[in-house]
Amino acid sequence: GTTRHYKFNIVMQNVTRLCQTKSILTVNGQFPGPRIVAREGDRLVIKVVNKVKYNTTLHWHGIRQLRSGWADGPAYITQCPIQTGQSYVYNFTITGQRGTLFWHAHISWLRATLYGPIVILPKEHVPYPFPQPFKEVPIIFGEWWKADTEKIISQALQSGGPPNISDAFTINGLPGPSYNCSAKDAFKLKVKPGKLYLLRMINAALNDELFVSIANHTLTVVETDAVYVKPIKTNVVLITPGQTTNVLLKAKSKAPTATFAIAARPYATGPATFDNTTTIGILEYEPPSPVSKNKNKKFPLLKPALPKLNDTNFAMKFSKKIRSLATAKFPANVPEKVDRRFFFTVGLGLNPCPKNQTCQGPNNTKLAASVNNVSFVQPNVALLQAHFFKKSKGVYTTDFPVNPPLKFNYTGTPPKKLMVNSGTKVVVLPFKTSVELVMQDTSIIGAESHPLHLHGFNFFVIGQGFGNFNPNKDPANFNLVDPAERNTVGVPSGGWVAIRFLADNPGVWFMHCHLEVHTSWGLKMAWIVMDGKRPKQKLPPPPSDLPKC
Ligand code: C2O
Ligand code: CU
Repeated sequence: GTTRHYKFNIVMQNVTRLCQTKSILTVNGQFPGPRIVAREGDRLVIKVVNKVKYNTTLHWHGIRQLRSGWADGPAYITQCPIQTGQSYVYNFTITGQRGTLFWHAHISWLRATLYGPIVILPKEHVPYPFPQPFKEVPIIFGEWWKADTEKIISQALQSGGPPNISDAFTINGLPGPSYNCSAKDAFKLKVKPGKLYLLRMINAALNDELFVSIANHTLTVVETDAVYVKPIKTNVVLITPGQTTNVLLKAKSKAPTATFAIAARPYATGPATFDNTTTIGILEYEPPSPVSKNKNKKFPLLKPALPKLNDTNFAMKFSKKIRSLATAKFPANVPEKVDRRFFFTVGLGLNPCPKNQTCQGPNNTKLAASVNNVSFVQPNVALLQAHFFKKSKGVYTTDFPVNPPLKFNYTGTPPKKLMVNSGTKVVVLPFKTSVELVMQDTSIIGAESHPLHLHGFNFFVIGQGFGNFNPNKDPANFNLVDPAERNTVGVPSGGWVAIRFLADNPGVWFMHCHLEVHTSWGLKMAWIVMDGKRPKQKLPPPPSDLPKC
């Protein structure tokens, strides 16, 4: 592979959207941020220089970081933040992956504007397992607030209530014509009749899963989370924050006398209010077919039909359709034997309101979120350093409850106790432990889908269903042949999902809901994977410029 160097200067930049200008964090003044293009097997050396008043980190979402955990990026998990005026070089090799991923800030809510695509091409002269597209186009979805997002989340955490919802969704940073004062700020995709396009879709929104559709066009899903999948023809794609989905779009053979909306709006299942607006980009044919002699006559903009906002059945069906290629060239290496089984409940809960304060959660509480009823408390130093230098005392404990402490009907009667426990608790895994993990939506404060993301690994989605997971019955239906291999999966609203992964990557690996508000409330935990015996199974020491806390 080649070594590719990037320089990422974190700088403030004035950006105007919806008729309001605000100063946002950007990389090199670009919004969305610069695109990283590399090939499978390449080394990336990215120098990040922090020139803003916020401490920050960047994360290369979905990159496996085999024995390069120091470059993963989540703040206080694998590194301390890069402080104002400081820099850090992220140095890692892309091993065994090709497809679309993305990078984003990984501290507080800074990823609201600090994000950009990662395009990993196959090794040279290696074709795609689908027809070669004429052109490839990254399409990155985001969420825009007129107000300062750091203020929004800190106020929400203070008051205990939900944060303000966004003012718009965006496609490549642009809200599009369905919003006031945004008619000209629309993403445009120009296509030539008869040609094949590869759309590299990324959901970088903070808090919303999205349905995506293009009017009068069928999409063919060919890759998810940088893993090829069996082609799926569909009119609608569901993409959670943290997921990436490559689709083929075949342009009609003759330029039609219309333009077509590329529309995205939320899939929202929770009890909270959410931004239910629709962002629109415009698919245009070139050259346009003559519609009339009047040059000013505009083509109509056709809009697609999208599933209803809480269409959990669509979500389940769509998720189940995604299957690995499972061919000789692209095998699905599902761990056959299981060393350890875990059952995690994920969902919202409550924290008590501090004395002499009024809180905006239900019955004067603060909203919280947890895994097995533990709401993760962010430490003051990075877990990976504490682990590597054997200084865990006072930083983390290894008593993460591996079974849910509360017994109740997860999708029916809530438990009496709605309060969460707090702590910085981890699960320690010996090198190469084969893990099976079932995640169950607790539905404590209403059923809700949670897009769970695991750092450092791809996992196989071997089963999913509505209702309570039944350990005596459901494993019989697990798919060990061609399950989807991903880094982010929706724990179904009012249901469960089962995954398997092989813990062959030594380090500390974050796992969290990719709805940023839920992460802020504590829906996160970490796995520590111990070194193996051989030199190639050990995590090397940190680079000398690793930021200090
Ligand atoms: Cu996309 Cu832990 O993140
Ligand atoms: Cu969540």
